[in-house]
Amino acid sequence: MSTFASKLSASLLIAPALLAASMATHAYQAGDVIVRTGAVAVDPQESSGNVKIDGEPRPLKVGVDSNVQLGLTGTYMLTDNLGLGLLAATPFKHTINLNGVGELADIKHLPPTLTLQYFPMASSSVWQPYVGAGINYTTFFSESFKTPFKEDFRSLSLKDSWGLALEAGLDYRLTENIVLNAAVWYADIDTEATFRVGDARGKVSVDIDPFVYMLGVGYKF
Ligand code: NI
Repeated sequence: MSTFASKLSASLLIAPALLAASMATHAYQAGDVIVRTGAVAVDPQESSGNVKIDGEPRPLKVGVDSNVQLGLTGTYMLTDNLGLGLLAATPFKHTINLNGVGELADIKHLPPTLTLQYFPMASSSVWQPYVGAGINYTTFFSESFKTPFKEDFRSLSLKDSWGLALEAGLDYRLTENIVLNAAVWYADIDTEATFRVGDARGKVSVDIDPFVYMLGVGYKF
């Protein structure tokens, strides 16, 4: 082998190793912050109890439609493989249907979710899948009955919910700092709606238990 050829073959062998080493320094590591934004959808998998009027169950249940908003997620890397994740979004707006009757009410909610995330891949990988588990807090507001129900129904209020949240996601590193992201959460959100109809007190328990989906783009700081 000529000197030139041996130098060339040596550099061909070394170049990928140098490249891998330089990429490794660009990967997720303790102290990194990844912020992602995109479209986020809340898709309730609701199950409703019977509507009760003055404690008396009626043959009526409620349903909740899905909604898309602007989502914001963040990960703070505690170690090279463990991150603290937060899901936030602009307020979701849902219509509550009185099943078989019509659109009963509109509500808004915010479901901030905090998870501990595990990133199993080596830090040099451009694919960074993760799973997470944690807690969801959901607060409801702007509850209002729709026409024609609002003539007789009033004082709608939904109780805040604390529950378990599970998460799976994937970051794909396009460049050193820019990632594409897809993520899904399951959140255990159970609430009780109370209201007045005439002089009677109404109540219905609903397990909303949604899947939450997000597609977005992120930046690693
Ligand atoms: Ni539930």
